[in-house]
Amino acid sequence: MAKGRCSAFVIVLFATCIFMTVAASNCVCRQLACGPSNFTFYMQNTVYNPAVDNANNFTSVYGLPPNVTWPNPLSFGVTATFEDPITIGAARDSQQIGVGNGFWQIDSRQTYTLFHVFTANITEGEYKGIINIMGQLRESDAVRYMTVVGGTGDFLGARGLASCVLVVIDRTPPAKWTLSFELDLYY
Ligand SMILES: *[C@@H]1O[C@H](CO)[C@@H](O)[C@H](O)[C@H]1NC(C)=O
Ligand SMILES: *[C@@H]1O[C@H](CO)[C@@H](O)[C@H](O)[C@H]1NC(C)=O
Ligand SMILES: *[C@@H]1O[C@H](CO)[C@@H](O)[C@H](O)[C@H]1NC(C)=O
Ligand SMILES: *[C@@H]1O[C@H](CO)[C@@H](O)[C@H](O)[C@H]1NC(C)=O
Repeated sequence: MAKGRCSAFVIVLFATCIFMTVAASNCVCRQLACGPSNFTFYMQNTVYNPAVDNANNFTSVYGLPPNVTWPNPLSFGVTATFEDPITIGAARDSQQIGVGNGFWQIDSRQTYTLFHVFTANITEGEYKGIINIMGQLRESDAVRYMTVVGGTGDFLGARGLASCVLVVIDRTPPAKWTLSFELDLYY
């Protein structure tokens, strides 16, 4: 090997070593304070229905169906946006501990399946912060498994399982229902 090439090789090797040392020292494992390992709440939904004009008393609103030429019995592509009270218990008049903001979108033409994504903003109680939850929710499933993908405050770094159950539904307009969420959390 020529002398010039050899010293270039040594310089590259040296630079690589420095780069790797710097990269390694940037890689630190930070320990999170642990939030609750389990957390349960209830979300109370009331659909806006122009037929009963509950303009002062609704928590969710459906968007228009997509303008398509084919039959769309399951309302594929429809999105509903919600801002639901979160309560500590299943009853509608149970103490409110936060608000759930998000939407569900009908994303299957085969079964009634909703892509459900929301933030649970918990402002009352022992633990406060935001929990980010998402997943596919199939109406036919007794327990709908969703995931916790993150959080803030006491839920910082949270991830885990959100088991969702339809506690009660009243289809009399305006339609109302209660969902329970049991969370198993890891930090
Ligand atoms: C977690 O579960 C334990 C026992 O299973 C219960 O005592 C506790 O209240 C639960 N905590 C929360 C935040 O739900
Ligand atoms: C509408 O609001 C009243 C009082 O705020 C409440 O008692 C009632 O349950 C609400 N109705 C619905 C459909 O949520
Ligand atoms: C729906 O689509 C048809 C065909 O493209 C169009 O003529 C019509 O204006 C659309 N309607 C709405 C409400 O956008
Ligand atoms: C959470 O709720 C509190 C109380 O209503 C509010 O001040 C805060 O802005 C909310 N956070 C978000 C991200 O919506």
